[in-house]
Amino acid sequence: MSEKHIQCEDETLIIAIDGPAASGKSTTARLVADKLGYMYIDTGAMYRAVTLKTIRRFGAQYTEEDVAALLPETHIELRREDNHSAHTSIKVFLDDEEVTSDIRSQEVSAEVSRVSAIPRVRERLVALQREMSKNERVVLDGRDIGTVVFPHADVKVYLVASIEERARRRQKELQDQSAATLNASIDDLAARLATRDRFDSTRDHSPLSCAPDALRLDTTNMTIECQVEAVLELASQGIKKI
Ligand code: CDP
Ligand code: CDP
Repeated sequence: MSEKHIQCEDETLIIAIDGPAASGKSTTARLVADKLGYMYIDTGAMYRAVTLKTIRRFGAQYTEEDVAALLPETHIELRREDNHSAHTSIKVFLDDEEVTSDIRSQEVSAEVSRVSAIPRVRERLVALQREMSKNERVVLDGRDIGTVVFPHADVKVYLVASIEERARRRQKELQDQSAATLNASIDDLAARLATRDRFDSTRDHSPLSCAPDALRLDTTNMTIECQVEAVLELASQGIKKI
């Protein structure tokens, strides 16, 4: 079946948000989904869940075959928690265990690009992302949504920001979460983000790249509200080609 058919045979409506690490994808995607009443799929969380399972089983010593062998026995679920707050929160479940914070650890962040570059991991998760989106109105964020998962998405956005700003955002996030990570310097975080971006952009299978018909937004000096407004404006126009 062609990609076009995946989009046209049902009522699916897709907003694709891609970009490098800490460019603001998940914050924007969640808020846009809330405003529009759409489902939100954090595809990075799915790659992180497979990475967590890999690390738990094999440590840092694993082959592509090892990871591929885990896939048939791996169950990933993104559950929407209706906690009566203004914003939706999504909880991540790996084989029925809640791993929402475990998948954000430094260990997982350091290994996730390597696991995500394995073609069988991508095939499996892309199939799952398409299945989850079937007959739904969805905002997905990731690295390959507008290029590979849904190349005919109704709205495509590619977020970027300077490496210094992205490292600052990540540092603030870590400081808010845990005292154990207070020591991470901006330089250290910037180096880790740059390494992950390089790995994600240069892999053979579905590299991180801006789709030619995506709106490219530099969020370095933008507020989150501005980012959300820009995506909502695009969605309201139903623009496909910029
Ligand atoms: O939140 P952050 O930008 O740090 O990362 P994420 O969105 O949670 O994604 C973690 C990693 O998963 C990325 O660095 C990619 O290696 C991989 N990923 C991917 O390959 N394809 C996607 N659609 C989403 C994430
Ligand atoms: O999903 P991605 O890794 O691209 O980024 P994110 O998790 O949405 O954003 C990383 C952090 O930057 C979050 O804590 C956001 O609240 C923050 N952020 C910001 O301070 N200003 C922006 N314009 C966008 C994001």
